[in-house]
Amino acid sequence: MDKSKILTGHRPTGPRHIGHLVGTLESWAGLQDEHKCFFLVADLHVLTTDYAHPGRIQDNIRNMLADWLAAGIDPQRSTIVLQSSIPEHAQLSLLFGMLNTVARLERIPTYKEQIKELNLQPSVGLLGYPVLQAADILLYKADKVPVGEDQLPHIELARETSRRFNQLYGDTFPLPQGMLSNAPRLPGIDNRTMHTSYGNAIFLRDTPEETTRKVMGMYTDPTRIHATDPGHVEGNPVFDYFDIFCLDREEVKQYKIDYRAGRIGDVALKRRLAEVLNQYLAPLRERRAEFYSQPRMLMDVLYSGTARARYEAGQTLEEVHEKMGLLPGQVFTMQVTHPSGAFC
Ligand code: TRP
Repeated sequence: MDKSKILTGHRPTGPRHIGHLVGTLESWAGLQDEHKCFFLVADLHVLTTDYAHPGRIQDNIRNMLADWLAAGIDPQRSTIVLQSSIPEHAQLSLLFGMLNTVARLERIPTYKEQIKELNLQPSVGLLGYPVLQAADILLYKADKVPVGEDQLPHIELARETSRRFNQLYGDTFPLPQGMLSNAPRLPGIDNRTMHTSYGNAIFLRDTPEETTRKVMGMYTDPTRIHATDPGHVEGNPVFDYFDIFCLDREEVKQYKIDYRAGRIGDVALKRRLAEVLNQYLAPLRERRAEFYSQPRMLMDVLYSGTARARYEAGQTLEEVHEKMGLLPGQVFTMQVTHPSGAFC
């Protein structure tokens, strides 16, 4: 049976946190046997907002890759792709730009939120973010795209682009489907959404001591003053964490009973949570440190995945050129030579 094709990715914004781990990385790792997977390092997408700090990107990629591999992304079974190293991503994005109106893109919720939140004059690049994402997906003719809920409007745009292209030029692209993971969203230590830039994340690379410190400072039930007050379990991130990271269900059940009855204090509970979390993360952290200490190996992984993907990307772009009435690129593929005639 033909394996269905999956493409998903992250912007390399730095090390991954435990929200990424349980929300996405663990489910990505589980998809690799049944599907042909492409995992994209979307470095061009980083530049749509953060183009003024070029010095950070390389280290962010190294951190993200170490975390991906530690979480079980397996470069033997999957293809890890560096977006900026395959020019076809940008080329297809340009061509897809012809099929999407400005008005449509201005209605995308992530776009509206970002210009409000960052209080910036939107660039062409930011407006085109979902067009580039559609190109990422359709370049490999992916059928399924595992993403968080906030990304669904982008998948919708990729579907519309695919439909429109197929209508105009004949059947070419699949209709990609968004796949939501059923892992619950993990709140940050302040109970807002966990976010790299909010200062509320626990990172996979954090030491056990840092983790314990963060857990001890975690938001709990604000209505509870004394350890003997009955506490609230729902909406309390300490229990969200216990539910996910504590493999002993009975233990968690008992804590909930005791907490509601005012028989256990927040400090004792957090101490135990820190232990549980550190235990859960220990093997992963060991692997991540090992990977992080081998930057050459990480670059090799990225290089070999990208080289493999490039062939497929080239095939699709050829097809698109031809269907859109452009000369196939290969006709004019020439050796790149210096004007003096010497090979570069
Ligand atoms: N926009 C995605 C995010 O911020 C990252 C991304 C870029 C992506 N290209 C993609 C995700 C293609 C899925 C498919 O999380």
